[in-house]
Amino acid sequence: MSPSAVEIQARTLAGYADASRLRQVHDRDWVLDRVTGSPETLIDLGSGIGQLLDTALGRFPSLRLAVGLERSEHRLAEAARRLAPYGDRAVLHAADLTAPEQLPYRAQVITQTSVLHWLYPDEDRIFAWVAEHLAPGGRFLLTTYHPARDAQGLGGEDELVREALTALGTPAASVAALLAAHGVLPIATRTRTVDDLLAVLAPHLRVAGHAERDAVVTVDSAEQYEHFHAATFGDYYAQVLPGPRRADFYRAVGAAAWRRQNERGHVSHMPVRLWELTAHEEFVAGTGNRPARA
Ligand SMILES: C[S@@+](CC[C@H](N)C(=O)[O-])C[C@H]1O[C@@H](n2cnc3c(N)ncnc32)[C@H](O)[C@@H]1O
Repeated sequence: MSPSAVEIQARTLAGYADASRLRQVHDRDWVLDRVTGSPETLIDLGSGIGQLLDTALGRFPSLRLAVGLERSEHRLAEAARRLAPYGDRAVLHAADLTAPEQLPYRAQVITQTSVLHWLYPDEDRIFAWVAEHLAPGGRFLLTTYHPARDAQGLGGEDELVREALTALGTPAASVAALLAAHGVLPIATRTRTVDDLLAVLAPHLRVAGHAERDAVVTVDSAEQYEHFHAATFGDYYAQVLPGPRRADFYRAVGAAAWRRQNERGHVSHMPVRLWELTAHEEFVAGTGNRPARA
């Protein structure tokens, strides 16, 4: 049986420009509004389809270089098309942020929006990398999502997935075990609490400020959420089902979201934190010594 359109979408993470309007897009201006001065270099970590880089290049004429690091080849290709009009001002690198390579750039601004949970439990590696790639006085602007976690350790998208799997016949109480059996970490585990994150980043970075917003997701139809899930999470959750059942899974996620929309007036909401981080002064001064945990 050939894969359905939504399965192909999940494999290639296609349709993100449209899907991200539901949640992730709001981080873009929120983060860029925090940029001060006239930055010359900006690095975006997990740059997706290049939307933040595109906006930044348009907003900050001082930017001589906007660099994107991204793992997905499909997203890199879409970003390259989007950023082509900027010529040499935009550079994209294929990169795994859990094992980031050194780059010959220091940036006044480094950004990372809606990505950090995918790097769990190795976030400290990207924090160390950022400390080494910030220019003196530079800022790391990071957004992190914090869904509530229930007794089974599930929260955020995990809950919609549980509702979908239950509708397809898995008892609700068995969903956590089914995910674990396939090595799928619940998103509510991947998204550390603010205190946990503070402990992980403190050896590398200093908190200069923060802001919070509530990310509320609403939809106009079940299909809209079905495509949001496929474009955002790909087959991360769907892999727990055999191939022929995956199209039903995406449909069931959409139906669960639509049911919630009708019952609650929204599909989900969760706090999002915007962190403003700087390198420790000792590190910027070039002593080469990482400071002890702050
Ligand atoms: C939810 S999207 C966010 C994209 C963009 N930053 C935004 O705010 O719209 C998460 C992005 O992180 C990328 N990503 C996840 N894990 C990664 C890794 N280990 N290395 C590089 N990129 C990664 C994904 O491919 C995806 O493009």
